Amino acid sequence: MLAFVLVSGSLWILLELSSTLMEKMQAQEMISGLRIPEMDDISQFFLSLPTSTLVGIGALTAVLTYWLATRPRPIKPPCSLQHQSEEHEGGGRRSMMGDRTKLLTHYHDDATTMYEVFQRGLRISGDGPCLGSRLPNQPYKWISYKEVMARAEHLGSGLLHQGCKPNPNQFIGVFAQNRPEWIISELACYTYSMVVVPLYDTLGPDAIRFIINTADISTVICDKVEKAQVLLENVERKETPGLKRIILMDAFDSALEERGRSCNIHVQAIQEALGRDHHRKPIPPAPDDLSIVCFTSGTTGNPKGVMLSHGNVIADFAGFLKVTDVITWDNFTKWPDFAKYDCLISFLPLAHMFERLIEAVVYCHGGRIGFYQGDIRLLPDDMKALRPTIFPVVPRLLNRMYDKIFSQANSQWKRWLLNFAAKRKGAEVSCGVIRNDSIWDKIFFSRIQNSLGGRLRMIITGAAPTSPSVLGFLRAALGCQVYEAYGQTECTAGCTYTTPGDWTTGHVGAPLPCNLIKLVDVPEKNYFASKGEGEVCVKGPNVFKGYLKDPERTAETLDPDGWLHTGDIGKWLPNGTLKIIDRKKHIFKLAQGEYISPEKIENIYIRSEPVAQLYVHGDSLQSCLVGIVVPDPEVMPEWAKKKGILGTYKDLCKNTELKKAIIDDLVRLGKASGLHSFEQVKNIYIHSEMFSIENGLLTPTLKAKRPELKEYFKDKIEQLYSSISM
Ligand SMILES: *[C@@H]1O[C@H](CO)[C@@H](O)[C@H](O)[C@H]1NC(C)=O
Ligand SMILES: *[C@@H]1O[C@H](CO)[C@@H](O)[C@H](O)[C@H]1NC(C)=O
Ligand SMILES: *[C@@H]1O[C@H](CO)[C@@H](O)[C@H](O)[C@H]1NC(C)=O
Repeated sequence: MLAFVLVSGSLWILLELSSTLMEKMQAQEMISGLRIPEMDDISQFFLSLPTSTLVGIGALTAVLTYWLATRPRPIKPPCSLQHQSEEHEGGGRRSMMGDRTKLLTHYHDDATTMYEVFQRGLRISGDGPCLGSRLPNQPYKWISYKEVMARAEHLGSGLLHQGCKPNPNQFIGVFAQNRPEWIISELACYTYSMVVVPLYDTLGPDAIRFIINTADISTVICDKVEKAQVLLENVERKETPGLKRIILMDAFDSALEERGRSCNIHVQAIQEALGRDHHRKPIPPAPDDLSIVCFTSGTTGNPKGVMLSHGNVIADFAGFLKVTDVITWDNFTKWPDFAKYDCLISFLPLAHMFERLIEAVVYCHGGRIGFYQGDIRLLPDDMKALRPTIFPVVPRLLNRMYDKIFSQANSQWKRWLLNFAAKRKGAEVSCGVIRNDSIWDKIFFSRIQNSLGGRLRMIITGAAPTSPSVLGFLRAALGCQVYEAYGQTECTAGCTYTTPGDWTTGHVGAPLPCNLIKLVDVPEKNYFASKGEGEVCVKGPNVFKGYLKDPERTAETLDPDGWLHTGDIGKWLPNGTLKIIDRKKHIFKLAQGEYISPEKIENIYIRSEPVAQLYVHGDSLQSCLVGIVVPDPEVMPEWAKKKGILGTYKDLCKNTELKKAIIDDLVRLGKASGLHSFEQVKNIYIHSEMFSIENGLLTPTLKAKRPELKEYFKDKIEQLYSSISM
């Protein structure tokens, strides 16, 4: 093998190989003669080389040969990747997995409600560790399954003792960051058939008041004193008359208790709320009972309370499990059989179904959930301490990881190598092979993998589209399965999912086996189902029961035949996967009468390398579009340097030359994607601060709040237009 390399690569070697490498190779040849050395020897050989000597193309040829020789088997996909969904006679398309005659409603017969899901984990784990948390610089401390169940029963009994009713009309607010008590509170509700209503900061105080009143919440379980104060302020202003009790996880002083008493609110510690002396036997819910009401903030109006039954959640859970169940690293057993050894890092807000669903999959099989310390900046440290195997993420985090990796490769050459390695390994990935022990991993990627704990098996991303280049790179570099889910809270979490083995990008996968998907004509935007394009509609047991006390908006979303209208525009690809190409709303006409869909344009422009975020603006009074662009602080300065524009991030953001370069790049991308010239921005403003949930420009699910963006940048937009007309 080595001889082959030396001969076939000799020209390259003569041209490119550094002399030290040459010497080492010759030494190796002398030792081993012309026999084919053990593969281990070769890998040892490469590992013993300092990376700097590995730069010759000859060495890369050798690496390539090693890779060819040790290429492992690809993951066997659960269905043909050329045919990932099929027409269903009742309309729409369905998954190729599961029973063809009916949609999947559950996976395990003994887990048909969220209460039973936990019971199952308890049984399987043999009272193993369940929920873990840590203090700064300390190892994780674990609460066992039995302990979690016992605490949940105590808390639930305590709630009943204080007057809550054990039925699905009883709504309990949970207002906390991710931590063990969150899951315990949730389980306390399920154990006695009560309904959880998550509250979260980013909704804003008005929304919290709205939710407490709409859901008739009398008891809120919250984590921190500050949150209790937010709730008390509402009560003091007599805006939430129904609230009676606040149960706190953190310690608090008597002043808070006193403040509560003066407005008739019983503020108590969670230990105090436990009904140890009033223990009640569990009163488990039925699959059709309501389990949770998730309020989602739309881009306009009051939040909408998505009502999900236990059956809804279990169906989506089953869909996810069914698609991924046959995958392991190197052995094709069902992964639920060894999920007991899985460990999930919990940091995405538990208020979102996506996170809670994946966590439920883990504890249903007896796995462990470790919570981050509550500070996203300490997440890498928590990952190293926990060494998780499952990592649910949002694209923003993946983008950050990607940028970080490239910004640490601080020379042109290193970046070239990194890209080269990712391309080589990416070629393997696109044949379905996912592994973390190739030569590329040993040389380039193991450090990245170790920084995430070194044991990751599965990354699941959802909530927003991920850029294909980031997804492709990370699939290669992280050496684990990276899945993308698409969906919304109204269908519990996901309705399409990557098919294992299909590691191509540019689509959101195939329908989950729990739902059908059809596309519906949107004539005003020129999308027709007959051409395989239209509004994505979902039907199945994972589709919600309606918005709480909001029949009007329910009727707008859920049609009489049970199809959920998502408002997203999709397109079927020939191999049965779905691609999201646009949004139904947010269209406007330019002054000359052309329809514009700004999100379609943003989806194209966001691929521009220096751009992190952008907002495309136009209205029917104007005849062209303008944009607000936030460059990526970690990527843009380098990008600018390549164009010969130097400076700090802040300086560059004010640099007109850079602005021109970015516009050119956007327009180039737009042209390549077939945008008409009236769909291209004519001018942009460079903004140096990210749009975020905190500054009110993104929704909690990280979607742009268009009306807010328009208002926020009103002056800039006016200036942009006046500069064009001049
Ligand atoms: C897979 O694992 C099972 C037991 O877990 C074992 O019996 C079987 O031989 C393994 N198959 C392969 C191909 O390694
Ligand atoms: C590769 O991944 C497997 C499965 O997650 C893990 O057990 C193993 O430690 C990883 N190996 C390396 C070299 O990172
Ligand atoms: C499915 O089709 C799309 C579009 O034609 C393509 O980009 C993708 O690579 C295909 N996937 C597979 C697994 O062939």
